Order: sequence, then C-alpha cells, then structure tokens
Amino acid sequence: MCNKFFYVNLLFIFNLSLFHNVYAAETKKNNLPLKAVNLGNWLVTEGWMEPSLFDGIKNNDLLDGTHVQFMSVKLQKYLCAENGGGTIVVSNRTKAFHWETFRLWRVNETAFNLRVSNKQFVGLEDENGENNLVANLDSPGNKETFEIVRNDDDPNKVRIRAPNGLFLQAISETQVSTKTVYEESSWEDSDPSVFKMTVLTDTILKGEYQITNGYGPDKASKIMRDHWKTYITEEDFRFMSENGLNAVRIPVGWWIAKDPTPPKPFVGGSLKTLDNAFTWAHKYGMKVIVDLHAAPASQNGRAHSATRDGYREWGDSSISDTVATIDFLAQRYANRTSLIAIQLMNEPQGVDLGSLKKYYQAGYDAVRKYTSSAYVIMSNPLDRDSKVLLPFVRAFDRVVIDVHYYNLFSDQFSNMNVKQNIDYIKYHRASDLRSLTTSNGPLIFVGEWSGDWKVKNALKKDSQQFMKVQVEVYSRATFGWAYWAYKCDSNNWSLKWLLENNYVKL
Ligand SMILES: *[C@@H]1O[C@H](CO)[C@@H](O)[C@H](O)[C@H]1NC(C)=O
Ligand SMILES: *[C@@H]1O[C@H](CO)[C@@H](O)[C@H](O)[C@H]1NC(C)=O
Ligand SMILES: *[C@@H]1O[C@H](CO)[C@@H](O)[C@H](O)[C@H]1NC(C)=O
Ligand SMILES: *[C@@H]1O[C@H](CO)[C@@H](O)[C@H](O)[C@H]1NC(C)=O
Repeated sequence: MCNKFFYVNLLFIFNLSLFHNVYAAETKKNNLPLKAVNLGNWLVTEGWMEPSLFDGIKNNDLLDGTHVQFMSVKLQKYLCAENGGGTIVVSNRTKAFHWETFRLWRVNETAFNLRVSNKQFVGLEDENGENNLVANLDSPGNKETFEIVRNDDDPNKVRIRAPNGLFLQAISETQVSTKTVYEESSWEDSDPSVFKMTVLTDTILKGEYQITNGYGPDKASKIMRDHWKTYITEEDFRFMSENGLNAVRIPVGWWIAKDPTPPKPFVGGSLKTLDNAFTWAHKYGMKVIVDLHAAPASQNGRAHSATRDGYREWGDSSISDTVATIDFLAQRYANRTSLIAIQLMNEPQGVDLGSLKKYYQAGYDAVRKYTSSAYVIMSNPLDRDSKVLLPFVRAFDRVVIDVHYYNLFSDQFSNMNVKQNIDYIKYHRASDLRSLTTSNGPLIFVGEWSGDWKVKNALKKDSQQFMKVQVEVYSRATFGWAYWAYKCDSNNWSLKWLLENNYVKL
C-alpha cells in the first residue's frame, strides 16, 4: 500500500516533470514569453509616427476622410445636407454640426466626392433646367465629382466646380445650384459662388488609404516601395536581437494578399518586404507575429485600419474576404520556423460580437489548415471587457488573447502623476492580467503598450521607472508583450530610441 502509494506518487512527479520539461522546451523553442516590438508604420502607414511621409502630397490637408464645412460668404450661412442627407442641400445654417459637415473622398488632388452624415453622396439633380445640389446618392461616380478651387492668397476661400463644369452658387438660403454662369475670376464676397471652407484638422486621417490615394497612381508606388525598403532593414533585426528582443509583431493590411496588384489605391510590394522580414528574423533567432492590422472595410474606423473615411464598415459581409487574407498568410508562412503566431485582427471596435466570433472561428480554421503549431491570436474588442472572449476561446487549441495597455486615451489618466501611473500598472494592470490568466485557458499577450503618458515635464528617471514597471508586469503575461513601436518620430514611442538612450534595458 505504502509502496504503491510511493510508486504512484513517483509516477505523478515523473509525469509532472515530464510535462514541465516538455512545456519548458516548447516555451524555449518559441521564445515564450515574448519580448517583442511592433514594426508599426512599416507595412501599414500611420502618418502620426512619421508626418513627413505626407509632405509630397499636393493639398495634403484634403485627404480621404477629412471633414470640411462650407459657408457661403455672401449669405454668411453654412451648406447643410437637410436631414443629414437623402434630399436637397441648402445654405441656411448659422452654425455647423453633423449635417453641415462633408467627408472627402479624394478623386485626385483637386477633385472630390462629398459624403454626408447619412453616408450618402452629394450630386446635382436636374429639375426644370436647374441643377440643384442634393445629397441622395448611394455611391459616387463621375457625376458626383466636385473640384475645389482654392484662392491663391487664402486657401480656405474656395469655389466649387460642379460635375457640369459650372460653379456652385448659394442662390438663396434654400437653393444651391449652378443656375447662372459666373466668371471664374470673381472672388468678391458678394459672389454667390465663393465659400469659406473650414477644414476640421483634427479629423485628418493619415493611414495607408490616404497616403496611397493622396500621392495617386503615378507616385504612390515609388513612395511606398522606398519606404518599405528603408524604414526597417536587416540592420534593425540585428539591433533588436542584440538588445534583448526576441520577436516582432508586424502589422499588415488585407491588400498584401492581393500583391503584386492590389485594388487601387493600394500598391504592391509589401509581400516581398514581409518575406524579407521572415528571412531576417530567422537569421537573428527572432519570432514573427503576422498581425492583420487593417481588415477589409475597416474594423475600427481608425487611420491604422486603412479606412477611407473613418467609418467602420467591417461586418458579416466582410468575413469571407478577411478569412481569405488569413488563409493566404497562413499558407505562405506556415512552414517558416520563425512564424510564432497569426493575429486574426487588430483592435476591433464597435463590431458586432457575434460577427466577430463567427470570423474568429473561421479564421482559426483557416490557420489550422496549414499549421498546428502556430498560435492564433484573437484581439479583445476595444469596447468590451477584457474577459469577454474567455468562454468562447476554450474550444480552441493554442489560442492567445491580445490586450492593449496604454495609460492614455481615457480621461482617467489625464491628471495622474508619476506615482499614480506606476501604481496603476502595479495594481490595476497586474490584476487584470491575473484575472485573464486561467489554467487550461488561452495564453495572454500585451500586444501593445508604450512609455508615453499624460505626465508633463517628467524626469528621465520617472520615465525609466514607468518603462521598468511595465516590463516587469507585462512579462507576467503568458505569451509576453510587444512595445508600440520600434521606430517613431516621437521618441517616447520609439523603443529603438529608448534603448539607445538608456530609458529601458531588456
Ligand atoms: C433651411 O431650409 C430648409 C428647406 O427649406 C427648411 O426645411 C429648414 O427649416 C431651414 N432651416 C433653417 C434653420 O432655416
Ligand atoms: C481631377 O479630376 C477632375 C474631374 O475628374 C478633372 O477634371 C481634372 O482634370 C483632374 N485633375 C488632375 C490634376 O488630374
Ligand atoms: C510544409 O511542409 C510540409 C513538409 O515539407 C509539407 O508537407 C506541407 O505541404 C508544407 N505546407 C505548406 C503550407 O506549404
Ligand atoms: C511623447 O511624445 C508625444 C508626441 O511627440 C508628446 O506629445 C508627449 O508629450 C510625449 N510624452 C512625454 C511623456 O514626453
């Protein structure tokens, strides 16, 4: 009895240690938990990280998605899509809100479609020989293209050439049309074709759509290829591996699966760049997470999802295209030893949870067609509790939940001092991680975090402490962490700069 018990115990210990050895070997082979960095603004443009990328675009304040308003100088009233769209455009509002705001779809550097708040487009409607301005078109064509002609001395004084070649005029408060022919040269305030344009600069999006469509078909290809070739190089992989990093998370856009001839305005060539990343990662012993950062139709309306105009339109009808992208990536990279994981989608926000789960199931299955060893990362929806996916993911093998921890983007951080920020990491973030981590549950990944915070005039030692405590706490995440980002014009977002300047040691 005693012997048997001893024997069983021994067997148990042996099994346990075997399990631990296998687990440890597996963990070591996979560099887990990862110490990773995001190669942001490489294959998916984020203009805030490198504003100069947009310098060569003509009229670069009028990019896709920018919100503009027009006030008739003569009437001193704003153009307004009555009811937010679906009927006429009038010129009788003294203040500008949603109905008076138009989102630009750029046709070329001077020509645009105008999208109103109900998502319809502005056009001309011929009625009894008069061409009145309406906002009731579901999709824009040549007939809905308006040219914005800027005054040489004041770029916000504009005239708007309608598709029929004539300038729009605010004839009266209730009629905007191209009824009378006006001379192009007239910039008089009394001229009904002169408008004051307000560009809502904080709505300017600077993502992949804006840069490629902004440069247009003649220039975008060279600009993007030069960027991909120079922004991250083999030398960076050497630097990362020598400074304690063992993985990269690489944001990609859905168009990579259509390389070398993606639909306009996107340009080909990013696929070859991703191939290079795998080669360099392998050479320097690093793992690669391929992260679908920009899904078809945009999963969050942010510039980094490559939205055209800020609307999130990803939904059930986008699932098959999104799965096809994952299928393509899994097939291409499944056999690369550096592949550690494929992330099905970055930061969904405002998407229907049922659609998201349907997609995660299908995306998981697509990855598993090609590999049983790669992890599948599922992003927690930004607008949901961090535990919302836990019951759902139990059905899968080798799944990782990705959470993003920034002491930013919420009012609660606005007035926190150094100690409060650090305590927030030590207590709140640590406790969130603990509550996510369950035996037999998914691995947990802090896929984005940063050293930026709302503390003004912080001392270097404060920033160093903030970095240090984050590394300590996020290293408890079972899949590890990834800093946002490797390179950035803002030093505090550049792990390369922070490492070189001794803000952090890994
Ligand atoms: C503007 O004109 C439209 C169309 O005639 C009318 O329905 C609306 O009440 C007017 N609004 C104002 C503020 O005058
Ligand atoms: C822009 O498009 C408009 C309308 O299609 C066209 O008339 C104009 O010539 C174009 N301008 C440039 C610079 O291509
Ligand atoms: C990966 O390699 C294995 C073994 O060489 C092969 O059977 C399999 O088809 C490859 N998979 C892909 C997706 O290329
Ligand atoms: C980090 O960089 C951003 C952008 O340049 C800047 O606004 C912010 O003040 C910086 N934060 C700190 C803590 O220096």
